[in-house]
Amino acid sequence: MIIIPEVKDVFVYAHKHRNEIIWMSQNTNHLPTTDAIEKAVVEALREKEYNFYPYTHGIFGLREAILEDLGLPLQEFECLLTSGGTEALYITTRALLQHGDVVITSDPSYLIIHRFIELCGAKCTDFPIYRPPWKYDIDEVNEAVSKKTEMILLIDPLNPLGSAYTRDEVKAICEIARDHKLYVLHDITYRDFADSHTLATEFLPEASVVVYSVSKNCGLAGMRTGALVASRELMNKLRPYNTNDLSINVLGQRAALAALQTKKEWFPRVKEICRRNQAHIKEACDKIENVFLPVYPSQANMFVIDISKTGILPDAVQNELLYEHKIFVRSGTYVSKRFGQNFIRVSFSVPEEHAIQFKQKFPLVMEKLGRK
Ligand SMILES: Cc1ncc(COP(=O)(O)O)c(C=O)c1O
Repeated sequence: MIIIPEVKDVFVYAHKHRNEIIWMSQNTNHLPTTDAIEKAVVEALREKEYNFYPYTHGIFGLREAILEDLGLPLQEFECLLTSGGTEALYITTRALLQHGDVVITSDPSYLIIHRFIELCGAKCTDFPIYRPPWKYDIDEVNEAVSKKTEMILLIDPLNPLGSAYTRDEVKAICEIARDHKLYVLHDITYRDFADSHTLATEFLPEASVVVYSVSKNCGLAGMRTGALVASRELMNKLRPYNTNDLSINVLGQRAALAALQTKKEWFPRVKEICRRNQAHIKEACDKIENVFLPVYPSQANMFVIDISKTGILPDAVQNELLYEHKIFVRSGTYVSKRFGQNFIRVSFSVPEEHAIQFKQKFPLVMEKLGRK
């Protein structure tokens, strides 16, 4: 018999105990959405739709549903289905960036995108934004543009902080991009959780690429389904880098279509629970000395909890919560090179009982670690 040694890795542990874990670590959505998703997937399974390659441009109606969700006209914009927003980010950076280019980025950020940028030989500016207003300072962005700048990465709302950009700020960023002939890569993965949201395509249709995902809003992270959306002309530059000549996973497509067709009916409830859960977590933070929430309320389904003044390290909090209480949060080191030691990231698209568990356990964990 082969004995597989026990690895002390948080993800190995969490996945092995998946059904017992309160999953607040990856901004995934564990709230009820709609039965229509399961029905569509089961029907596709029953019909063995997986025996076929899907139609190359995706199952009928999905691209249209995505454009409709974004309020973008079919005559002017095109949608390319991808394996999650992740692949859309990869395709976009590959297609638009060259060796030596500079991309305006922030720290903290969703660092996988920075890795894709660097794979192209381009550089990230990594503006420090771990200070109010916890997002780009528009003047700073403007001043930083040089001859080498090619793109502005706009993650809006921002993972991990939960900050978001106003309509005027999106407009200003697009104006900078137009003045300097830059692309705006608008990652809108968390758009639905925000109180209001403006697409960069409104001000810069010719040079905006929208990265779209159903992982978080629709609770379909495991289906690996997303898209990139751009003007028809810009899509001509992106399309050659598409790796999905044979389309993407058909079950993910069926699930996404069912979710989007019904989203207006069930998403408000998801958002409402997220807002209540944020309040539960804030209650816990307010009770602990030297702990604060930089952004509240978050415009996404996550935020960060600053613990820097407690002297406790985020990895210790992550491990204690996971191994002792089966609550999985993420150390800040995953989303920030410079500021990661200051915070943990917590997502709250979980059943309310889970947020209440966090509210009860987090102060105990901080007290225990503070004594060490
Ligand atoms: C900002 C951002 N973009 C993209 C993704 C990836 O999403 P997907 O599951 O659609 O690949 C994530 C996932 O956490 C994210 O935070």
